[in-house]
Amino acid sequence: MREPAVLFVCLGNICRSPLAEAAFRAEASRVGLEVEIDSAGTGDWHVGHAPDRRAQAVARRHGIDIAHYRARQVCAADFHRFTHVVAMDGENLRLLRRLRPADARAELSLLLDHVAGRAGESVADPYYGDAEGFDLTWADVSAGAAALVHTLRA
Ligand code: 4NP
Repeated sequence: MREPAVLFVCLGNICRSPLAEAAFRAEASRVGLEVEIDSAGTGDWHVGHAPDRRAQAVARRHGIDIAHYRARQVCAADFHRFTHVVAMDGENLRLLRRLRPADARAELSLLLDHVAGRAGESVADPYYGDAEGFDLTWADVSAGAAALVHTLRA
């Protein structure tokens, strides 16, 4: 696995983490950062599913097609494969801390920890809200992606 290698994690892997993956891919590509990128969910309800239609729509509005992404569940091997495992919210992070094998290399963080002045903040779960919630999700994951790319280049 190439280094750095970044895994974005939320609950279902159909809303927030696929959008974080998409925003981070776009930003890494824009600045020429060589990095392995994936996303996963802590839950297994949506394994094999495409992203939520509202997530696909907001990505498309920003010029990115995520229709081919497929949800998967995070597993122990991910903590060895990835150098950075980046949670969307505090609940995801607590679960990842429990799943992380003691000898794993992955550093755990919240996505918004990387944004100046927003450490400890969660990307709100938009799943049960309306379509506008996904615009806020996009704004948050874009800010997080840009900040994380900046950190990894430094
Ligand atoms: P995500 O959103 O964690 O951002 O992918 C959710 C997707 C599905 C569910 C909850 C949150 N769900 O309860 O099925």
